[in-house]
Amino acid sequence: MQTALTTRIVDAAAIAEAADGLRAGRLVAFPTETVYGLGADAANPRAVAGIYEAKGRPSFNPLIAHVADLEAARQIAKFDSRALALAEVFWPGPLTLVLPKTANCPVSDLATAGLDTVAIRVPDHPIAHTLLKAFGGAVVAPSANISGHVSPTTAAHVKADLDGRIDMIVDGGPVEVGVESTIVGCFDRPMLLRPGGLPREAIEQVLGMALARPPEEPESDSSQPLAPGMLASHYAPRTRVRLMAVDVKPDEALLAFGPAALPGSDHAKAVMNLSETSDLGEAAANLFGYLRALDAIALESGAAGIAVMPVPAHGLGEAINDRLRRAAV
Ligand code: TXA
Ligand code: MG
Repeated sequence: MQTALTTRIVDAAAIAEAADGLRAGRLVAFPTETVYGLGADAANPRAVAGIYEAKGRPSFNPLIAHVADLEAARQIAKFDSRALALAEVFWPGPLTLVLPKTANCPVSDLATAGLDTVAIRVPDHPIAHTLLKAFGGAVVAPSANISGHVSPTTAAHVKADLDGRIDMIVDGGPVEVGVESTIVGCFDRPMLLRPGGLPREAIEQVLGMALARPPEEPESDSSQPLAPGMLASHYAPRTRVRLMAVDVKPDEALLAFGPAALPGSDHAKAVMNLSETSDLGEAAANLFGYLRALDAIALESGAAGIAVMPVPAHGLGEAINDRLRRAAV
């Protein structure tokens, strides 16, 4: 067990100091447009090991390397024409590409869990961008939460999970997208490894083809899964989550979507609406914060669970439904 650190929350004025911290092998949480990440120097195996330790993350689950631009990404991974097309259209932005490593890829084997591929993205956030530029190399960053918890969309969420375990949190306010990046495996047939903040439809349009689906989840299988992080129960609140609710039981809290009221909602323990106007972007941005808040209220009030109204499956709805299903396991 490592000794407790003092976790400082700083603002954008301290980015140079945050970059120095990364160079010294420290752990720095920072905002991206999707969720807050917990960053470490990708080339420093000790720093990378610190991420796994701070999060309690299984070390077979590889990390995403974050870089400032496509040029930096090409030092790390080999881009074929499809990958290049996706990077040119969608970076910076909420898209992660899984690609073959270059011969002299600086990302440590621990961060890629020994795979020959590496996941890379160029985040679209001024603090992330400035930090990556100031640091100069690749920064591996999983979502800045305890492994298995809901991803953080504010600096306060990061502190709630990782206080005393990391050195610094750069506070950039609430994130814009609210769900993690979409992950595409650039294999012979491009594959959607994780639905996320960039809708599948936009990617398929650029590729001119449908994205393949990953094979069924191997769960605890020991063979190397294609998307090792997609374990069934991953975004779990502590309270039971009931999906596709068409009513609210007397002892439930409600996660609503859209303008309609459900039978029983006036006696719900608490009601939070992802988007009263049925806007999927607004719903994605609110999802993790509302799950955290309802979980806390439900635990405090002794509520039996959280009822969740149906959310459409298209566009960002694919990622929202994916995270809700995992929360309900
Ligand atoms: O939006 C995001 O992607 C956020 C922000 C911080 O950038 N990061 C994030 O990281 O969600 P994390 O560690 O929570 O999820 C990374 C996912 C995991 O499911 C992991 O298994 C997968 O990426 N992954 C990483 N490297 C991979 C590889 N070489 N092949 C397949 N999957 C990989
Ligand atoms: Mg995560």
